[in-house]
Amino acid sequence: MRDIGIYIHIPFCMAKCNYCDFNSYSNMEYMEGPYVDALIKEMKQRFSKLGDQYNIKSIYIGGGTPTYLNYEDLKKLLIFLKDFYKDNIECTCEANPGTLSYEKLLLLKEYGVNRLSIGLQSLDNNMLKYLGRIHSFEDFMENYKTARELGFKNINVDLMSSIQGQAIDDFANGLKFICGLNPEHISCYGLIIEENTVFGRQYKSGKLQMIDEDTDYKMYKTAINILKDKGYTRYEISNYAKTGFESSHNIIYWKTKEYIGLGAGAHSYIDGLRFSNELSIKKYIEKIEKGSLPTCFEEKLSTKEKMAEFMFMGLRMMEGVELLDFKNRFEIDIMSVYGKQIEELIKKDLAVIYNNREKEGERLMLKLSDKGIDISNRIFVEFI
Ligand SMILES: C[S@@+](CC[C@H](N)C(=O)[O-])C[C@H]1O[C@@H](n2cnc3c(N)ncnc32)[C@H](O)[C@@H]1O
Ligand code: SF4
Repeated sequence: MRDIGIYIHIPFCMAKCNYCDFNSYSNMEYMEGPYVDALIKEMKQRFSKLGDQYNIKSIYIGGGTPTYLNYEDLKKLLIFLKDFYKDNIECTCEANPGTLSYEKLLLLKEYGVNRLSIGLQSLDNNMLKYLGRIHSFEDFMENYKTARELGFKNINVDLMSSIQGQAIDDFANGLKFICGLNPEHISCYGLIIEENTVFGRQYKSGKLQMIDEDTDYKMYKTAINILKDKGYTRYEISNYAKTGFESSHNIIYWKTKEYIGLGAGAHSYIDGLRFSNELSIKKYIEKIEKGSLPTCFEEKLSTKEKMAEFMFMGLRMMEGVELLDFKNRFEIDIMSVYGKQIEELIKKDLAVIYNNREKEGERLMLKLSDKGIDISNRIFVEFI
């Protein structure tokens, strides 16, 4: 039996946010029905190719905005999915405030979604408008309260820092308020200006300036300190959780384990093969309707590439990478491959080898130090 994670991509949004370069589209609602039918067909194709020898460890319905799907299409998808997984695995659905009605929350609960990831981004309604979000802070509060009333016991809230015009104090107070609601998980991302977005175009034309490095760093540190103080453990660069609520789906990615991505633009990694689907909703549906797989890109990773990925994905996590895991996977000692880089990092206090006694037995691990995590992007390059 092989363990795999399943990612399902829903590329529809009510409106495109000004910063977002995810594969998501507005004004494509008329495609929702055919898209869900195509998704179900793709699942049948992919699962039959895998045979019986797989064990689904987690499901993640992401987007786009899965909760923007109309009730009947969402139900159709959830009914189909239910046959593939056991109740006790983590099943996440991303949700936008403003699209998360009582009926949809009830539907998600009924069909086994046990983790909600709600994109709030900011508590300030003016900031939300600036970001191009479709909802208000009050919408979020209403959705959060209803989700709790319906018994959702594992909720993530996405927040953003380093937005132009955002004051550090406002960000800090917002974060403290969210901690007070006690979500089990908080993701906190610094805004990245992506090229092919409204913000990207404004930046290019000089209408938007990036927040200065000093404020950016202060906000990043503010988030770390507040979340620590409020009992959230930072387990990945941008992800914090109460004990036992780390996202097992995301950990699959960071530990470079196998996953299958279904839907337009979704990526998969299985048998050392990385592949992705057609980005365009139309092309994706057309390929499926013709009976072909919707794959448009694939590459077999070389051992060197797999090792590099193991390092730079694994080092995103605070616990780092396990030395024995590297040896078991690649049949070579980690120091024979990356000895020079590792020694250099340790010498500069950017990384440390330690014994992780929290888990059963003794596990020698390599992790980045706090100083190393702060400049992780520069360190990751060393392994590529
Ligand atoms: C696919 S989106 C979440 C789902 C949902 N569509 C939403 O927006 O609430 C994943 C998260 O990535 C973060 N994100 C997306 N684009 C980003 C950017 N350019 N910079 C920083 N964070 C970003 C946001 O916090 C967002 O909630
Ligand atoms: S709702 Fe989410 S996926 Fe859709 S455009 Fe906004 S950030 Fe991107």
